[in-house]
Amino acid sequence: MRSATVVTTSEDQTVALGRHIGGLCTAGDVVLLSGELGAGKTCLIQGIATGLAVSEYTFSPSFVLVREYHGRLMLYHMDFYRMETPAEVLDLGIEEYLDGDGVCAIEWAERAADHLPREHLHIGLQYVPGAENSRRILLTARGSRYEDMLQQLTTATRSFAQWN
Ligand SMILES: Nc1ncnc2c1ncn2[C@@H]1O[C@H](COP(=O)(O)OP(=O)(O)O)[C@@H](O)[C@H]1O
Ligand SMILES: [Mg+2]
Repeated sequence: MRSATVVTTSEDQTVALGRHIGGLCTAGDVVLLSGELGAGKTCLIQGIATGLAVSEYTFSPSFVLVREYHGRLMLYHMDFYRMETPAEVLDLGIEEYLDGDGVCAIEWAERAADHLPREHLHIGLQYVPGAENSRRILLTARGSRYEDMLQQLTTATRSFAQWN
């Protein structure tokens, strides 16, 4: 499966979706997130952390570039919101995270798309006009590893998520 869309109607549902993604993650996985401020990127990553059995709460890292969380796998949570040019991202030296055995989850990933792995799960979150607590979430798998993951995710979440 290459792409799938789901609408969540609460923060809890977005976190639950993230939790299932975290449960499916394996060493070296990369999850790239995009969407406006308040779209729910950080909420979703909090869910991924829970799914990876991380015990600490994950705060938004808008002011700190990389946060590390110890779970079943390491989770590296990055936020490129403050990156003005892709070159700044290169200067960060995040290759060691991207090439390592942890899971990388990156907010505002589009700010450095050319410098990130071509194979990844992309998650785009959008507001739904007129529905304050709803978000349309489009998942796109780039690479067969992520196609498998997406297939499993849609099956695992069928009880609470209507996929299109
Ligand atoms: N369906 C939903 N999914 C995720 N967040 C939601 C949803 N509905 C309302 N919210 C609210 O939107 C905000 C999302 O914040 P956050 O995850 O920090 O966004 P971002 O990281 O994209 O800037 C939170 O205040 C959350 O309570
Ligand atoms: Mg955020």
